[in-house]
Amino acid sequence: MEFKGKLGIYKIIETEDKTKTLWSEYFNEACHNLSGAYEETLYNYINGCDIVSQIHSNENLHVLDVGFGLGIGLKALVDTLQNNKLQSKIYTYTSIELDEDLFLWSIAHTFPGHIFTSFHKNGNTSYQSEFSFGLNEKLRVTIFIGDGRMTLKEAHKNNLLPEFTAIFQDAFSPKKNPTLWTKEWFLECKAMSSNHVRLATYSSSISVRKSLIAAGWCILNEKGFGLKRTMTKAKLIGETAESLQVELSRSPTLELRDI
Ligand SMILES: C[S@@+](CC[C@H](N)C(=O)[O-])C[C@H]1O[C@@H](n2cnc3c(N)ncnc32)[C@H](O)[C@@H]1O
Repeated sequence: MEFKGKLGIYKIIETEDKTKTLWSEYFNEACHNLSGAYEETLYNYINGCDIVSQIHSNENLHVLDVGFGLGIGLKALVDTLQNNKLQSKIYTYTSIELDEDLFLWSIAHTFPGHIFTSFHKNGNTSYQSEFSFGLNEKLRVTIFIGDGRMTLKEAHKNNLLPEFTAIFQDAFSPKKNPTLWTKEWFLECKAMSSNHVRLATYSSSISVRKSLIAAGWCILNEKGFGLKRTMTKAKLIGETAESLQVELSRSPTLELRDI
């Protein structure tokens, strides 16, 4: 089973937890680990960014999901909010997606019947939606269509973004999609975030870790999902463990930079 989007063919693949992922012809890569798309998302991003602790803290929760894909990051966040007693505070989810056809396919399959409204301004398209969990508890959702390096920068410049408290760094791999893993990208992420932000990614590549550190993040090495040995978490407050810094300094691999 497959469908055609703006960026070529997407093949629908069932993963081991019975949830679906997509293989993208354009990036020649699947959106998730085949051990389980939903379980991986819970592990890497909901747990990786301490979402449950953030729900129970006094701070607002503002998630940036780097790559909407099938919308599994949003689905896992909605389920987590549903399963926890919420405080009366602000909850937002922001994401980016290059391929509008993929986005439309994904909302129809992951959120059947749920309404997303499109907005067009200065040649840019975004979609907004809302999920309600009680009388006053809502998750406000915005997805910017187009290259996130541009759309987020512009939205940030126009004060349209909250200060992110969680970043799901879930782009295709640095080899296939390098512009979302560079020092400059992580500098932008830092500029868009609160001091208490948590960033998590499935990647444990040396170049990605060096890009994060070069942009002022401190990083943690953590056990990866399924068969993956390690993943990376990052914060703006604290320090990278000396042992990890020494390990990275032994590798000649460089950080990734915008060309
Ligand atoms: C690995 S998938 C994300 C999976 C998603 N988080 C989920 O749980 O379903 C990466 C997504 O990022 C999108 N993407 C890649 N580069 C992008 C860019 N520069 N700007 C916006 N979206 C991008 C791809 O089209 C793809 O849908």
